[in-house]
Parts: sequence; structure tokens; C-alpha cells
Amino acid sequence: MIKSVSILTLFLLIFTNFLFAQVDENKIIVNIDSVQGKISKHIYGHFAEHLGRCIYGGFWVGENSLIPNTNGIRNDVVKALREINIPNLRWPGGCFADTYHWKDGIGPKEKRKKIVNTNWGGVTEDNSFGTHEFMDLCEQLECEPVICGNVGSGTVQEMADWVEYLTSDAESPMTELRKKNGREKPWKVKFWGVGNESWGCGGIMSADFYSNEMARYSFFLKNYGRNSLYKIASGGLQEDYNWTKTLMEKWSKEDGWLQNYMSGYSLHYYTICHDWDHKGSATDFNEDEWFSTLSKTLYMDDLIKKHSAFMDKYDPEKRIGLIVDEWGNWFDSEPGTNPAFLYQQNTLRDAMVAALNLDIFNKHCDRVKMANIAQAINVLQSVILTKDEQIVLTPTYYVFKMYKVHQDADLLPIDIKCGNYTVGDKSIKTISSSASKDSDGLIHITLSNVNPNESAKVKIDLKGSAQKEFIRGEIITAKAMNSFNDFGKDEEVTLKDFDNVSLNDNELVVELPSKSIVMIELK
Ligand code: AHR
Repeated sequence: MIKSVSILTLFLLIFTNFLFAQVDENKIIVNIDSVQGKISKHIYGHFAEHLGRCIYGGFWVGENSLIPNTNGIRNDVVKALREINIPNLRWPGGCFADTYHWKDGIGPKEKRKKIVNTNWGGVTEDNSFGTHEFMDLCEQLECEPVICGNVGSGTVQEMADWVEYLTSDAESPMTELRKKNGREKPWKVKFWGVGNESWGCGGIMSADFYSNEMARYSFFLKNYGRNSLYKIASGGLQEDYNWTKTLMEKWSKEDGWLQNYMSGYSLHYYTICHDWDHKGSATDFNEDEWFSTLSKTLYMDDLIKKHSAFMDKYDPEKRIGLIVDEWGNWFDSEPGTNPAFLYQQNTLRDAMVAALNLDIFNKHCDRVKMANIAQAINVLQSVILTKDEQIVLTPTYYVFKMYKVHQDADLLPIDIKCGNYTVGDKSIKTISSSASKDSDGLIHITLSNVNPNESAKVKIDLKGSAQKEFIRGEIITAKAMNSFNDFGKDEEVTLKDFDNVSLNDNELVVELPSKSIVMIELK
């Protein structure tokens, strides 16, 4: 018996080695002449909550600040976000949204109510940043607003008024109020969240209860003039597939009354390296934690597949978008900072997590129509950190800068055969990738090597009629897994030119350094 077990083990070992030897050569096939779908630019969206220093000190410094600003909004932040083509910004929360009463944040600033931010540290919220300031921010960023309304502690009337205040051109008390506050013309607001995490901080509702609330709110949120709302329903807790089923079932029964019940359905998933009680440090980590963070990030793919399967049952034509409006790394807050402010540094590991998530969203672009990293500035996995007048662009920022080439481009089908990156008895795929073709016919292939110790040679077979030409490449990598950019120091992680490629007869060979993210542009 023992003998036969050890023979079996030996056989398995030889077989596994044989398998690895087969895939040691990382091979990708990209079909450059076929299109799998369109990657919505809104997958590259951001999120700004009234939390810690995201709004105050991050976006907003006030008109009287010595920090260069336009109408109170930091110029350096606007410039940086415009460089990554920020397509949309979600606001005012998060959990804050379901405690927010929008009328507190309009009119003369000195008359605005001061409230307690009960979700995030009990600090005073003076409402100096409200609806007009947010809409001005979106105009400066040239991005679309994504407004999340208050279902948990608000009323249908309050939310309906907000829509009317923002988008109506007709004569009414709400439009008069807007004009009195200095805005003559209505704004265009398409994306509208009906509550946030309504299973939890948004009101501890059940799926049945919320699905009825969604119908009630949705019915009273009107389209004014040419403004047409894209209503986003709150999803359930991560793996709550019953919540998805309940909402989708209700949507599928939509009749005259429930027309336009919802257009999008939200999913939130954060990568937590350990667990909620001990999330781990953003900067001080070992290879096990690098591995655990990356492998837990890949769970996003499972979640999307499973929620999509429920959605497909009721919506095979994929009319409802899956909106991943909160994602990213959540680590322990930086020592010495207010733990309720969720301020964390951002390393090359965060860059890798961003690349893996964006590849997953690109791959599922038939269903995923929007995603918002949490959060834009000074909170969780930020693209920007600020300290007074100083600004830091994080490794995650550079991934968004690199990946902007995929925005609104056609997704090209790819087939990846690659080796594994193994730590202990666990493995993940070494290579992650996306390929797309933009409206000018340029092909962009982004590739990540998740292995922090070994480089990877990747052979890419460009299947298609026309001969391709290498135009340029970019790379993000650094000395260490935990390299990061800090105030007053030269950047350790940034975007650099990359040309370690060869192209013969449409076979592209790329040498990816360890722990690197690369973009190749072809014509
Ligand atoms: O992004 C921080 C918080 O995480 C949000 O307010 C909430 O929606 C989620 O639980």
C-alpha cells in the first residue's frame, strides 16, 4: 500500500513538473481582427466620500487657501486627474451618502449647517463642499458625476427634489432655489445611486425590503428635459447572490409602473490581506502577504462571474450593468493617523492589485459597465495623497495612467497560457493581461508579471491579417515589492519607457522584469 502511494506521488511529481515545463514558456494569443466587446471608459472611475481627508484637504481647500485652487478646488489634483482621463467621480459616499441631506450643502456657506460625520470619526462636517462644489469639480475634471442618494435616513421626496434641483429646466420651487444659489442652467447628471450598501450602513435592509424601496424611489426619480437617469441599485453583501436574484427578478417583471426600475446593479469588494480585525500594513509586508493580497484580489473574478450568472438568468441581453463602485486594497490605517480616516500608503503591491482588477473588469466588459476605485485621495487605495500643499502620485495612479489606453477601446480576445507563481502550497497565474484596439486602430497590450522574484519571457502571437509594428512601451516596476512614493522624495515607482521587446512575423516577445506592469503599443 505504502509502496503504491509513493509510486503514485512520484508519478504526480513527474507529471506536475512536465506540466510546468510545458507552460514555463508563457504564451499569449491575441486575435487582433476580432472584437469581444467595448471596454467602457467608466470602468476607470473614481470615488470621493466625505471621509477623512478625501474631500477636505484632498479635493477641497476653500477659496481663501494659499494652496493654488480654482473656486476652492486644488489645481494640482485637477491637473493630475485630468491626465489619467478620469471618466467619472462617485460622491458623496459610501456610508456617508445614507446620512447626507443635500439641502445642508447648498446656499451661502456661512449659513450651512454643521453636522457630525457619524460614520467616519464623529468629526464636524461643515458642508462647505456640497452640490454646487461637486458639480464644479466634475466640470473642472471634465468627468461625469455619479451621485449616490440617501435611502437609509432620507425620504423619497428629498431624493426626488435633488434630481429636480440638479437637472430640471422647468419652473418649480427646486429650480428657483438652484437659480437663487447661482446656477441658472441645469446640469446633466446621468448616473444615480439609489442608496449605498443598503444591507449594512445604508439601513440594514433585507433584499425584499430594499427591492421594494428601490421601486418606490426609482418611480419618483424623474427624467427632466433631455436628462436621462441611469439608476444604480445597491447590491448585497459580497456573496449575497440571493440579493442579486431578488433585484433581478423584480426588474424582470417590470411593467408600465416599474419602467426604468434600474439600469445598474452595484457590487463592492475590497481586498483584505488578512482579515477585518487585522488587515495588515500597507507598506511593511513580506512575500506571503504580497501573495495573499494578489490572490485575494483575483476573487473579484469569481464574484463577477457568479453575480453575472444570476443576472444572465433574468437579463440574457445584458441590459443591466454590473457596477463595481467600490474596490481596492483596505489595509490598517497608517500608524499615528486617525484610524477612522482610513489613510494608507500605496506601494508597488497596490499597483499590481489595480492592474489585476482592471484586467478582470476589462475581461468582463460585456457586463461590467462601471467601476470606481476606493478612494481617489487620502483614503484607502488612493491615486493621490496630499499633505498641505504637497502632492504625491501613487503607484496606483501610474497604473491608471498606463491603462487609460483601454478606455472606450474594443476588447480583443486573448488566450493566456502561463506558468504559476507559487508560495508555499498555493499558486496563482504568473501573467495577467488585457488587449484592446482603439478608435485609431492602435493596439494596446498590458501585461503584468506578479512574481516578485523572477522575470518572465512572454511570447505573444498576434493572430490577424495585417503585419504589426511596435510603436512604444511603458513599464511600472521598482526595487522592492513595497517601494512607494513619499512627500519630499524622488518617486520610487513611476511610469518609464520600455522597449525590451522584439517583433518578428507577428510574434511579439516581451521580457517582463519581476513584479512589473508593462504596456505595449502596436500599429
Ligand atoms: O470606502 C469606505 C466604505 O466602505 C464606504 O463608505 C462603504 O460603502 C464601504 O463599506
